Amino acid sequence: MKGIILAGGKATRLYPVTKGVCKQLLPVYDKPLIYYPLSVLMLAGIRDILIISTPKDISNFQYLFDHGRQLGLHISYRIQPEPKGIAQALLIGEEFIGTDQVALILGDNIFYGDKLGEVLRQAMTYKDGATIFGYKVTDPQRYGVISFNKRGQPVAIIEKPSNPPSDWAVTGLYFYDCRAVHIAKKLKPSTRGELEITDLNQYYLKEKKLKVKLLSRGFAWLDTGTHDSLMDASLFIKIIEERQGLKIGCIEEIAFRMGFITRQNLLKLSSSVNTTYGFYLKRIAGYEK
Ligand code: G1P
Repeated sequence: MKGIILAGGKATRLYPVTKGVCKQLLPVYDKPLIYYPLSVLMLAGIRDILIISTPKDISNFQYLFDHGRQLGLHISYRIQPEPKGIAQALLIGEEFIGTDQVALILGDNIFYGDKLGEVLRQAMTYKDGATIFGYKVTDPQRYGVISFNKRGQPVAIIEKPSNPPSDWAVTGLYFYDCRAVHIAKKLKPSTRGELEITDLNQYYLKEKKLKVKLLSRGFAWLDTGTHDSLMDASLFIKIIEERQGLKIGCIEEIAFRMGFITRQNLLKLSSSVNTTYGFYLKRIAGYEK
């Protein structure tokens, strides 16, 4: 299974904050936003990862993660010249994906919850079709929304409906079988000029090959699309981390706990960051109380 993080776009809704710095590099409390979706792929056990970003921003991600070997990963990079939709990531990643399954995650989505890794690994076992995740929200009109029939089966996915058929938003995490690129090539741009991921999911749904996993209320799916939600996400992370003394989305810790790197590797990483973040890594490595 390959993993793609789409970290493109202009994030104009966050201007002027995102005029000089891209959104996915903004801090969410103690780490850059992209750490959170990267940690999701890592928790799923995915180690071969492609980061897609704009011509202007791609070098910043390369500077941040390099080849990923320090995390026991293999990270490669590709450019999305213009923001032409989420499904375009599959076309840009065609060569990278090859004949594998692929997990696609949006670089600004934060997921948090007990046994998230198990939920993800379970989704990866479905080798025929696609899996998407639904999350109950109070503002579904801002997202792709799932409509269900009386038996609770998904019957349609509608992008940003003004009259949402349910409160279940489609999150920015998608698992696809090896046909995804082939199907993405058939998509036509929507009225907003984008290759919509919703159209791709709708295709799988029509073929009865779409699994919709509804995340229960114990999960957090956080949005970072507005100044307020970005601030809320930081506060959420800060509160849980301070209360438990455990970090959320800490990619170095996850690399260690998933067995991608050794204790010695983690210790080495910790000594390159002389902040509370680095001290935390040292503690996780077992060298500090
Ligand atoms: C995109 C998708 C939408 C999904 C959302 C999740 O919206 O088009 O279906 O619910 O991501 O973050 P956009 O970021 O383009 O507004």
